[in-house]
Amino acid sequence: MSERAFVMIKPDGVERGLIGEIVSRFEKKGLRLVRAELTSIPKEKAEIHYEHLKSKPFFDELVEYITSGCVFSMIIEGTAAVQNVRSLIGPTNPAEAPPGTIRGDFGLDVAQNIIHGSDSVDNAIREIKLFFEK
Ligand code: RTP
Ligand code: MG
Repeated sequence: MSERAFVMIKPDGVERGLIGEIVSRFEKKGLRLVRAELTSIPKEKAEIHYEHLKSKPFFDELVEYITSGCVFSMIIEGTAAVQNVRSLIGPTNPAEAPPGTIRGDFGLDVAQNIIHGSDSVDNAIREIKLFFEK
């Protein structure tokens, strides 16, 4: 059954020129890129996107990081898109992410981990609404 995931290449990934490499991995897996936008995120929107982490000690640092440059936001579509995107991205901490995953291949530090992917279908719907339905 086809499904949609929200994916966002974070400012470090954009700055390092990884957009093409990352989109290519999703396409080679068999998923489709159906919408994309290169933009900066206003602080208010970043706070809404990460509101479930508001109580964490790293929340301010996270909002600062995600608003520090352009992000590349995408809707990725295909069979079990949410789960397939998460497995291509790898675990949150790049130091624990196996080689072959995006975070395992390109990241070093949990605070700057290259990319975001929706963690559930419900959150994908919420995030697509926040980023693509003006
Ligand atoms: P994401 O939402 O970005 O796809 O990441 P995730 O599901 O793998 O991890 P989540 O728990 O949702 O955390 C969101 C983002 O917060 C940053 N973080 N920093 N300094 C820290 O200890 C720490 N822990 C998490 C990361 O940018 C993480 O992706
Ligand atoms: Mg998350």
